[in-house]
Amino acid sequence: MLYRKYRPQNFSEIVGQEHVVKTLQGALESGRVGHAYLFTGSRGTGKTSLARIFAKALNCADFSKMRESNFAEKSSVRRSLGEGGLPEPCNQCDSCLAASQGNLLDLIEIDAASNRGIDEIRNLKDSALVAAPSGGFKVFIIDEVHMLTKDAFNALLKILEEPPSHVVFILATTEPHKILPTVLSRVQRFDFKRLNQGQISGKLGMMARKEGIKINEEALKTIAMSADGALRDAEVALSKIQACLPVGEASTDSTKAISVDEVNEMLGLVSYRYYPEFVSCLLGNDKTGALDLIQKIYLSGADLENFTGHLVEYMRKILMAKINPVVLASISGINDEETKSILALGQNTDGQKLIRIIVSFSNARNEIKHSPVPQLPLELAVIELCGT
Ligand SMILES: Nc1ncnc2c1ncn2[C@@H]1O[C@H](COP(=O)(O)OP(=O)(O)O)[C@@H](O)[C@H]1O
Ligand SMILES: [Mg+2]
Ligand SMILES: [Zn+2]
Repeated sequence: MLYRKYRPQNFSEIVGQEHVVKTLQGALESGRVGHAYLFTGSRGTGKTSLARIFAKALNCADFSKMRESNFAEKSSVRRSLGEGGLPEPCNQCDSCLAASQGNLLDLIEIDAASNRGIDEIRNLKDSALVAAPSGGFKVFIIDEVHMLTKDAFNALLKILEEPPSHVVFILATTEPHKILPTVLSRVQRFDFKRLNQGQISGKLGMMARKEGIKINEEALKTIAMSADGALRDAEVALSKIQACLPVGEASTDSTKAISVDEVNEMLGLVSYRYYPEFVSCLLGNDKTGALDLIQKIYLSGADLENFTGHLVEYMRKILMAKINPVVLASISGINDEETKSILALGQNTDGQKLIRIIVSFSNARNEIKHSPVPQLPLELAVIELCGT
């Protein structure tokens, strides 16, 4: 899987999340390292990657030397520095090498989704009280921390109240609203942002070059848009595409680059051209046209739930643009062509009709799963909106 191979190993390889990266590097620079951090945000945005890089840097030989000298001899220690002179793990010392291979003894990762109970946290506490074998930091990464039982949470809270000085906790969750306020008040919280289309296609482009996958820019954008801000999802999609390519054949100058249409086909996505076309049919009460399109999309093998989800998203943009065209600029992943079609569709349309379409198709989307004929909920929505 490409996403494992290209997991960032340095702060500088993390895309976006600048506010988090800067603060963690600042803590390493000054030696003022907190005892508990909370990383929140949707999946595939770099929480685990960044937690591991921080753990690696904390145990890097360079950092240990600086710590021993109480940061007095900062300049005499050959410190690995990245862009802007900010610290990076050296990726050369024994500790860094172990960390990169996932063998760092002082880094303990717990998945709270499958280890939810009080016993796990008690074990964690016992382990936290023992100094790190290397004399450095012991770092505990607790993923999906909101899944802990109440008792386990309270036990964790006790440890957070008086953490041993050599211990750093990094809690991660996709659902921060489920974290008790008592815990929130004891951690330094960072909200990870969804990545935008440019950030995602930037990394995908780099990976494609290194892997020798020839793919055009528009096709990369298409993958990026389908990932809804999660870099991991985009990387998994690129793996799928790579798996479809003929094996053993190195791409040459004459190899054709993978196109948008091929990406859509391989990932079961619906071409973006269909959305404005479908919406025009609905707005013009052209039910034959709309029904034909549904059939065409279904036969192309695309996932209808996915199509309907994107359709609702597309309709939302039209509605928002109608209310205030300026907001379009703040919605990520829209290119010029799309902006034009969205503004045009919104202009001469009654807002109430847009709302009716959105509501009908949101409901239809939920019914697809249970429908004996997958197209039926969408067809009924069309007929209801355009009349029989
Ligand atoms: N901000 C990011 N910068 C670079 N790569 C990322 C980023 N976020 C996710 N990735 C990619 O996605 C994979 C999964 O990311 P991960 O850090 O496990 O996400 P999370 O823990 O937020 O679900 C990584 O191996 C990496 O390849
Ligand atoms: Mg994670
Ligand atoms: Zn190192």
